[in-house]
Amino acid sequence: MNERATMKINSQGKLEIGGIPASDLARRYGTPLYVMDETYIRQVVRAYRDTIARTYGDGNMAYASKAFSCKAIYRIMQEEGACIDVVSGGEIYTAKAAGFDLSLAYFHGNNKLEEEIEFALESGVGTFVVDSYDEIEILERLCAARGTRQKILIRVNPGVEAHTHTFVQTATVDSKFGFSVRSGEALDAILGAASKSHLDFAGLHSHIGSQIFDKQAFVLAVDVLTDFAATLEHTHGIAVRELNLGGGFAIHYTAEDPRYNVEEYCEYVRNLTRALESDVARKGITRPYFMIEPGRSIVGEAGVTLYTVGARKEIRDVRTYLAVDGGMFENIRPALYDSRYEVVLADRAFDPIEETVSVAGKCCESGDVLYKDVALPKARRGDVLAAFSTGAYGYAMSSNYNRNITPAVVFVRDKESYVAVRRQTYDDLIRNDQ
Ligand code: LLP
Repeated sequence: MNERATMKINSQGKLEIGGIPASDLARRYGTPLYVMDETYIRQVVRAYRDTIARTYGDGNMAYASKAFSCKAIYRIMQEEGACIDVVSGGEIYTAKAAGFDLSLAYFHGNNKLEEEIEFALESGVGTFVVDSYDEIEILERLCAARGTRQKILIRVNPGVEAHTHTFVQTATVDSKFGFSVRSGEALDAILGAASKSHLDFAGLHSHIGSQIFDKQAFVLAVDVLTDFAATLEHTHGIAVRELNLGGGFAIHYTAEDPRYNVEEYCEYVRNLTRALESDVARKGITRPYFMIEPGRSIVGEAGVTLYTVGARKEIRDVRTYLAVDGGMFENIRPALYDSRYEVVLADRAFDPIEETVSVAGKCCESGDVLYKDVALPKARRGDVLAAFSTGAYGYAMSSNYNRNITPAVVFVRDKESYVAVRRQTYDDLIRNDQ
């Protein structure tokens, strides 16, 4: 656990989030429960925005809402003055319902559906991050019909390989995302887009992967992108007015990971603005508006999942399974990526460690083991178990597998809590059944 002012173990060995004992939240709202530390979310967003303002000036951050999307989070981003990244009609719809100013939205996707594009245009989405030749054509046609001109970025693949889990790597040569800079496709797409009268080519977007610890990978990407910007400007007379470097900053999941804090994230950003500033001067290019697009680092460590311990199964000389009331329906990441997390018994954090167990989910699938080989005190039925750093891509990737209902999401701040997303009911499960 990466302790901080708003998430710590109190003197009685109880986990507190936002000043509230986690077990009180579990009792009040039921389990499994996603708890989000709103104070931390706001701190990270402020740190990113302040660092950009102080070290570069012209820029902002967009929250990659695929990491966790609901009305409350869009409201928070609006209040903090952040932009958002949306990747589907559904995310646009949710942001719109939250009253988010969509001129601050960046619309991503390698296969935006025509109806999603229409909906985005109708809703006033500020920037399209274009990711295919088809999209250039469709967007030009739809904007011509509406008599509007749409700001776009072109998503490029700088070919920088960030070392992380292969499932979340998006910028290698073999990728469904982006136009490759190296192959010449990026230049081709930009020349095409720049010639369209209803598209306003504003600049480049790149996202080199997720859960990246190596700060140099981003600096390398800046180098490739500014080289490319120099070619565009000096050879083709096309200026890159905006440069969006995507997200991907890593967070703390287990003891092997660094314990980043807000200051550390500022350092990430400082590295990037410094690299960009010096490249711009050295390569004689237009100084672009600077954007980053973090998701995980904003909501990941803000999230804690609370469970109630149920059945125990001791397989002698093999393993002890401790089952909880959650599972792959509320966190698919362990089954999908072999992701690891840290856990504690929420009210017994100071109890001596007595055993190593694997925390199993309740789904009818052997692979539904949430937290493998974790060291705990001897847990009893009814104990509240807390898993840390679940806020990104946890609830966002939840499902109704086995017709389990998705948990509630509760936000905490200054000893207050509120339901941001209510727990589903069985009626929700059959709502669309005919
Ligand atoms: N921008 C773009 C274009 C992206 O594709 C992503 C993540 C982000 C920003 C945000 O990256 P972050 O700061 O959150 O690393 N489901 C996987 C993660 C997939 C990430 C997809 N793209 C997981 O659970 O680890």
